[in-house]
Amino acid sequence: MKQDIANRHDIELLVNTFYDKVRRDEVIGYLFNEVAKVDWPRHLPRMYDFWENIIFQTGNFSGNPMIAHAKLHQQSPLTAAHFARWQQLFLQTVDELFEGEKAELARQRAMSIAVMMQVKIIH
Ligand code: HEM
Repeated sequence: MKQDIANRHDIELLVNTFYDKVRRDEVIGYLFNEVAKVDWPRHLPRMYDFWENIIFQTGNFSGNPMIAHAKLHQQSPLTAAHFARWQQLFLQTVDELFEGEKAELARQRAMSIAVMMQVKIIH
């Protein structure tokens, strides 16, 4: 049986595995690689903080995801298909690695933020 997400090390594994898939993905990879030209050594630790805060309420994330994605959308339009793929890859990664209450929380929060983001950005 798989373990639940228990600490920051697990969050790092989740985030690294997810973005490995994202970067190689045919549907959304170009948004990261070619449009945003993501600086990964800077982005990944921010994402560890973001998810650690969601799962363990550490209070250590201080970015604004809505602004980041609105800016991305201006550079290259985000579509429902992009969000669907993001969600599919995220859920697939959680399920592949973990099982339990925190894993379920990560799934739920990813889904609700993705829906909210999509409603705000695509109109
Ligand atoms: C179509 C779906 C999505 C795409 C293509 C996308 C892409 C991106 C890109 C390109 C960045 C900027 C990275 C950088 O330049 O450093 C970013 C930042 C970020 N994304 Fe997404 N994203 C998507 C959905 C989501 C969702 C659903 C969440 C949350 C559940 C999320 C959370 C974040 C966070 C927290 C940041 C960092 C913001 C900051 O640094 O202030 N993203 N995303």
